[in-house]
Amino acid sequence: MAKTPSASKSSPMPGEPPSSIPVTVAPRVPSGVPGLDELCGGGFEKGSTMLCLGEPGSGKTTLLTQFLVNGALEHGESGVFLSFDEAKDSILRHSLSFGWDLAQLEKEGAVSVVTYKPHEVRRLAEEGGGLIWDTINETGAQRIAIDSLSSYVVLFDTPYAAREAQRSLFELVHKWGCTTLLSGEAASSGDRSSEGMDYLADGVLILHHPRQRNVRFRAVEILKMRGTNHSQKICPFEFLPGIGMKVYQGEDIFEEFGTREGF
Ligand SMILES: Nc1ncnc2c1ncn2[C@@H]1O[C@H](COP(=O)(O)OP(=O)(O)OP(=O)(O)O)[C@@H](O)[C@H]1O
Ligand SMILES: [Mg+2]
Repeated sequence: MAKTPSASKSSPMPGEPPSSIPVTVAPRVPSGVPGLDELCGGGFEKGSTMLCLGEPGSGKTTLLTQFLVNGALEHGESGVFLSFDEAKDSILRHSLSFGWDLAQLEKEGAVSVVTYKPHEVRRLAEEGGGLIWDTINETGAQRIAIDSLSSYVVLFDTPYAAREAQRSLFELVHKWGCTTLLSGEAASSGDRSSEGMDYLADGVLILHHPRQRNVRFRAVEILKMRGTNHSQKICPFEFLPGIGMKVYQGEDIFEEFGTREGF
């Protein structure tokens, strides 16, 4: 039987990888959001750094929490929630409104909530994430949520220092090797601190919260996900008690969505 070109030992066909380089498909980490993983090849790439951008109230903290709670309850993966935004009691209380008992998960060592006050943030950058790294090691964490990158970078004095701090945080996160979700303000909200972050991340999700007449809607967009043939559709989602975010892939956001600037 004739050999197919790809099976032969000769040079690879144009577009084919050289045979000496083993090509593996990276395992996927489920997001915990019903309807989202189907849009992006089964979830986030294991060990990747995903950025979740959205305007205030668009659902960033909810998505980050859901990702960690799902890892802990459904996949036996512990996680660390690192917050520069909200105080710990506020995070625990708000999570309870979705039925997520982070205090209990902390007792079980399944989720650790670490908060940094503004004056402590510089220490995080200087010490190379000592406390977080210790927490990851102690709990064997495989998932990290960081809320938010925007609050982190604004604590640095100059745009240059902020950009450098942002770059070092991405490098730190990469070294930790966990699958990471970072939140940030959408550039469309007028906050320029998220500029450049989308280039550093492996993937970017945008949480839209547009208004049509007198009602606001929620929708999610996968702007990019390296190595993934992801959906290009902007899909509606809603928040449900006991579930959190739920995406409706088969439904459309209102027709005029995206036809006006600012959406
Ligand atoms: N239990 C709940 N059930 C349904 N919707 C809720 C519930 N709790 C909060 N929400 C909705 O989610 C919104 C807040 O979501 P979240 O805190 O995740 O947004 P965010 O993008 O992190 O906001 P911010 O930029 O202010 O930090 C609320 O304004 C409310 O509309
Ligand atoms: Mg938030």
